[in-house]
Amino acid sequence: MKVTLVSRSGREIVKGGIELGDSATVADLQEAIHKRIKKHPSRQRLTLPVQPGSKEKPVVLNYKKSLNDYTSGNSETLTVQFKDLGPQVSYRTLFFFEYLGPLLLYPIFYYYPAVYKYFGYKDEHVIHHPVQTYAMYYWCFHYAKRILETFFVHRFSHATSPLSNVFRNCAYYWTFGCYIAYYVNHPLYTPVSDLQMKIGFGFGILCQVSNFYCHIILRNLRGPAGEGGYQIPRGFLFNIVTCANYTTEIYQWLGFNIATQTIAGYVFVAVATFIMTNWALAKHRRLKKLFDGKEGRPRYPRRWVILPPFL
Ligand SMILES: NC(=O)c1ccc[n+]([C@@H]2O[C@H](COP(=O)([O-])OP(=O)(O)OC[C@H]3O[C@@H](n4cnc5c(N)ncnc54)[C@H](OP(=O)(O)O)[C@@H]3O)[C@@H](O)[C@H]2O)c1
Repeated sequence: MKVTLVSRSGREIVKGGIELGDSATVADLQEAIHKRIKKHPSRQRLTLPVQPGSKEKPVVLNYKKSLNDYTSGNSETLTVQFKDLGPQVSYRTLFFFEYLGPLLLYPIFYYYPAVYKYFGYKDEHVIHHPVQTYAMYYWCFHYAKRILETFFVHRFSHATSPLSNVFRNCAYYWTFGCYIAYYVNHPLYTPVSDLQMKIGFGFGILCQVSNFYCHIILRNLRGPAGEGGYQIPRGFLFNIVTCANYTTEIYQWLGFNIATQTIAGYVFVAVATFIMTNWALAKHRRLKKLFDGKEGRPRYPRRWVILPPFL
């Protein structure tokens, strides 16, 4: 079989095309492209060309499938569109680095009050209030949990993400981590009442445990090899909302903020809620499209996306 590799503008990328055996798979084609133009398979997006002006989404070639699955009757030739996705990193690497920053940076503000010297405060002997100590443990528990979940719980469908996302996501998490740590551990920090602290942390821990349980439910929607695509999540809070994991994530930050009460913390929860709400709306739309009640498919049963009765 001869594969003609073209760019989005229709320019031929490998002159003369690529010759492959009749039983070649998409993975074989990716390897052949790698050899010819030195672009690793993880950064190759291969699609079937669409007619110019067409609003149809192009078919993305699945590396597990045979190339013959994409030839319409004529198994001798195939034209494939190639897009370079740029340097990639694994999803686990991306998440690991974005969570490692807040996990390591926050305790610096707690254990080394000398850092406040650089912000114009004298290196006085700082006695931490219990709320600051519990906040540090709560924070570190949260990010350690996220890293462990990344490696041992989540079953991602995408193997890689663009390298540029590492810098963008690290900037977001690392900056907010320092911003919140600076105010919660500040020598002039004013603690909330004992009761408010207990309510905040108690509620927050309950939500963190619920969040972990939501992740176990999502994990069980897929087999160990990541196969299974998207299913309707059911059970626990997923019986009420589509993205119960985001709901519990937002509420656990609310718990942290009730206990610590800083503007920095509330700014973070507002930004995180905005981001997760947008993602949740997209996930809700995807599940409604996949499970539309037609041709024997079940109808997606949820009405609320993230926080009833608002969304
Ligand atoms: N504070 C913040 O700003 C913030 C922001 C985002 C996330 N988080 C936290 O990090 C956690 C993970 O985030 P995330 O955005 O990766 O969560 P997510 O997309 O909802 O899903 C977590 C895992 O479950 C899979 N999954 C989701 N819905 C599924 C379905 N219907 N069927 C089968 N598998 C499904 C996902 O697969 P795919 O690989 O296909 O997506 C992913 O591997 C969140 O739950 C939250 O606790 C915090």
